[in-house]
Amino acid sequence: MNQRKTVWITGASSGLGLHTAMAFRDDGWQVIAGARSFGDNPAAIEGVTCLPLDVTSEESIRAFCEKAAVVALPDALVQCAGMLVLGSCEETAPEEFRRVIDTNYLGMVRMNREVLPLMRQNGGGKIVMFSSINGLMGIPFQSAYTASKHAIEGYAECLALEVKPFNIQVMLVEPGDHRSGSDKYRPHAAAMNDGSPYAAAYASATKQIHHDESNGSDPDILGRKIAKALDKKRIPFRKRIASPDQHLAVYIHRFLGARINAVILRKYYIK
Ligand SMILES: NC(=O)c1ccc[n+]([C@@H]2O[C@H](COP(=O)([O-])OP(=O)(O)OC[C@H]3O[C@@H](n4cnc5c(N)ncnc54)[C@H](OP(=O)(O)O)[C@@H]3O)[C@@H](O)[C@H]2O)c1
Repeated sequence: MNQRKTVWITGASSGLGLHTAMAFRDDGWQVIAGARSFGDNPAAIEGVTCLPLDVTSEESIRAFCEKAAVVALPDALVQCAGMLVLGSCEETAPEEFRRVIDTNYLGMVRMNREVLPLMRQNGGGKIVMFSSINGLMGIPFQSAYTASKHAIEGYAECLALEVKPFNIQVMLVEPGDHRSGSDKYRPHAAAMNDGSPYAAAYASATKQIHHDESNGSDPDILGRKIAKALDKKRIPFRKRIASPDQHLAVYIHRFLGARINAVILRKYYIK
């Protein structure tokens, strides 16, 4: 009998999702990974079952779950699929907000609606949702992303309360900046150009954001921490994986007033 535990992972073709999938595989889990680009390459990750998945489409999610369930029902679902649009609040179009919310937040809502019945049928499971430090605090020119991650934080609290009787646990992962995320998933809002009233501040903030991510923490370590956490019987509701200064930023944000926070954040991002 197959004693290996099975994890389904979304957004596993790049960045933290890819590193997390490889960490689970290396720890002996059976890994079933989903991403849109796996449609072209089912063997994209060695030792991992790669299936096409678009989390903005209920049809695609259903097809993914049907195919994955034939291989094995999930002991854990890890949701990494995400994207952001960089831009000022004023110049990011509603359609650009919609794309980010649709992928990051509603993508998880859709996945959970399909996977929860399977987990109940299986006697329980663990649902891991990738939030961010931005799920706890806003930074300039990432409003669509920040809003989507705040939505995930609130939703996860509700979900955890509801599914506990079914032996289903929920964990929010709150990464700070990590290397390896692809610029492909960080487009600029179409209206951002040199004529923008925010042009100078935007150039400064996006330079800082890019610097922080490309000099961020090691994605392999994050993957290993998540795989290790899920090996335990009980998982924490929140797992923040960030550098010491980003941990500090969260505490400062929580305990200092909004005015002091704004001064610190503006000084950091807008030179
Ligand atoms: N990197 C960081 O510093 C950082 C920090 C905090 C939080 N996070 C979170 O960690 C997660 C991964 O981010 P990342 O920056 O490491 O990776 P990334 O390089 O930006 O990769 C994004 C992943 O999401 C998938 N994806 C995007 N839209 C999708 C859709 N509609 N359906 C299915 N998959 C979709 C992409 O695959 P396809 O294009 O093949 O579909 C890709 O695998 C995200 O939730 C992000 O918010 C990252």
